[in-house]
Amino acid sequence: MRVDRFLSNLPQFNRQQVRLLLIEKRIRVDGQVICDPRHEIRAFSRIEFDGHVLQAGKPARYFMLYKPPGCVSATQDVEHPTVLDLLDEPDKHDLHIAGRLDFNTSGLLLITNDGHWSRHVTQPQTKMPKVYYVETEQEITEAYIRKFSEGVYFAFEDLTTLPASLELLGPRSARLSIVEGRYHQVKRMFGFFDNKVVRLHRESIGPLLLDSQLAPGEYRALSEREVMQFQPSPAN
Ligand code: URA
Repeated sequence: MRVDRFLSNLPQFNRQQVRLLLIEKRIRVDGQVICDPRHEIRAFSRIEFDGHVLQAGKPARYFMLYKPPGCVSATQDVEHPTVLDLLDEPDKHDLHIAGRLDFNTSGLLLITNDGHWSRHVTQPQTKMPKVYYVETEQEITEAYIRKFSEGVYFAFEDLTTLPASLELLGPRSARLSIVEGRYHQVKRMFGFFDNKVVRLHRESIGPLLLDSQLAPGEYRALSEREVMQFQPSPAN
């Protein structure tokens, strides 16, 4: 939300006063004097007027979890354990998943309460590479490399997947890098060749690798540097 909107929504200021407060440099956001009425603020921003706190700003939280197979990437499920059950954190209802994994897929999962950040991580336009280790029922051939780099047509969405790179590791194992996160994308790409994925594990998202110190089911907070690596530029 724009800072002028936030301020004029408060009972103590009208729009005329808000304009003046900003010109008079009486508003600070996260410690910085803000004059631009279009400055974007968020639930995490600390907003002050003449040193009085108008919004304290809630802490933004970011975690990486080693998702084990056999749990659901959802905040609630009646039948199965969810990834949130693995977190021992307060206010879990504030958290959401940035880029789900299927029930039996393992690997890197990002969990946060920052919707702006998670949209940036997951939206296809950001073209954030996600790297998967894949094992299949049938042999994976060179033809897959060509097809995945050209794109696979998904009739349901009427789209062709963006170019993806495939590295063959063994007769039935490979490493695949994709920049989207379409529904069951990896399984459907291999499905083009009628080849069933029997093991799927996400190794990385953009610059962030699954921490090798984590065992399946464990998690840790992201460092500030790790969070900033994903920070959208102000224009996004
Ligand atoms: N693609 C899939 O098919 N499943 C996942 O869990 C992730 C990507």
